[in-house]
Amino acid sequence: MEDMKKVYIETMGCQMNKSDTERILGMLSYFGYEETTEPKEADLLMVNTCSIRQLSADKAYSLVGVWGKWKNDERNKELQGQPFKNIKIAFCGCVAQQDKEKLLKRFPYVDLVFGTNNVYELPELLKRINNGERVCATNETPKKFTEGEQEAKYEIKRAKSLNAWIPIMEGCNNFCTYCIVPFTRGRERSRKPSEILEEAKKAIKEGFKEITLLGQNVDSYGKNLDPDRDYDGRDVTLANLLRDLNKIEGKFRIRFVTSYPTDISDDLIKAVKECDKVCEFFHIPMQSGNSKILKEMNRRYNREEYGEIVKKIRNTFEDVAITSDFIAGFPGETEEEFLDTLSAIDEFALDYSNTAAYSPRVKTKAAKWTERFIDEETKSNRLARLNEKNREACLKSNEKCIGKIFEILVESYEEKDNNIILAGRARNNKIVHFNGDKNLVGQFANVKITGASTWHLRGELIL
Ligand code: SAH
Ligand code: SF4
Ligand code: F3S
Repeated sequence: MEDMKKVYIETMGCQMNKSDTERILGMLSYFGYEETTEPKEADLLMVNTCSIRQLSADKAYSLVGVWGKWKNDERNKELQGQPFKNIKIAFCGCVAQQDKEKLLKRFPYVDLVFGTNNVYELPELLKRINNGERVCATNETPKKFTEGEQEAKYEIKRAKSLNAWIPIMEGCNNFCTYCIVPFTRGRERSRKPSEILEEAKKAIKEGFKEITLLGQNVDSYGKNLDPDRDYDGRDVTLANLLRDLNKIEGKFRIRFVTSYPTDISDDLIKAVKECDKVCEFFHIPMQSGNSKILKEMNRRYNREEYGEIVKKIRNTFEDVAITSDFIAGFPGETEEEFLDTLSAIDEFALDYSNTAAYSPRVKTKAAKWTERFIDEETKSNRLARLNEKNREACLKSNEKCIGKIFEILVESYEEKDNNIILAGRARNNKIVHFNGDKNLVGQFANVKITGASTWHLRGELIL
């Protein structure tokens, strides 16, 4: 194509953002933009931002600051009559949705701010900025997935060649007191089963070996859909969706993230058990091991109820992995309450946890409880201990795998001292390294686990 432009996009945050980026790149390629991994080469610099913690937002602000300097240098060249590049800078994702016009004011060199509800207006927005306008498009009303027929028009530039992310629901109605997501992603809405099935079939046909269903609360999928209109009268649930996806022909795996503990129904557990393609892996953030803190977080379960769900899952599956997220130093958290978090990791034998120190977010309830804020030093001390406990738990969980035989989807290889070391994932999402032929990349292989370290397993290929 004549006049192919280049776009560089930096993606921060969760898989939902990564998935949005894949769709944004698909749209951009339709309009003549080619992706580059070299920001200095780009005509369009874009940052897809995360606002879950102040640190993530700050990362985006400073990146845009650097890009602004480049743009200024080009502008100086232009003023001196030298050849220059007409750089455009765009800010999207959760920080964009949250800060809106403020971003245009704060960063005079930013051309475009677009929110999580405006992704599919990008072609129109690009036209406007290329005509010299500065634009902010951050609708408050979420666009329903069901109105997203235009999505199908554009291809998806998937970042990985084996694992395809498929968003099935977006938004959140839970309003946990610490969390910005309901404000940046809006209320829960689900995509029609027919659209999801179509996207999955296409991905499998293209050679993807794993699909991961995405949603902020994936297990509340379907609540806003109508069984009669959208699903031949069947209940629109994650369980039924998994059953349908499982019927797609071919050898591939299915995963789903993230689960809200009390939304995991017995039928969902049953469906995971029934469906041979659905992996025995549950990401169920607990956030705190203390029931009082959980209540203050507005989580709809206590420590015991979380434990019941874990028990049910462990009793159903042999080699299941259950992972979690925890926050250290929530406002008012005492040392004893924090210790409950450490003991929960042991008691429920959690296989891995994402951890973070509490970060106050505007608009959220807990951010107003300033008199109960925990000082930074205590927070980072607790986070360090939480990380140590997590490392211990991971190693323990990995050591339990020694001697087992896992089916591995081989994802990559590395050459080391004339040896080929393959890396892949087991059904329970554990990373396994083993020697083998690089032709195995993209295939499934059975591997006997022979060793364990904190973050991965080692094994031997079974021929
Ligand atoms: N929907 C998921 C979590 C999405 S946000 C759930 O309900 O579990 C991802 C993780 O970021 C959360 O699980 C939480 O551990 C962390 N997080 C969210 N807000 C935070 C905050 N203000 N400070 C620190 N960590 C936070
Ligand atoms: Fe945030 Fe809670 Fe919603 Fe998860 S359930 S996205 S933590 S508000
Ligand atoms: Fe971050 Fe938005 Fe995801 S705040 S964690 S990118 S939903």
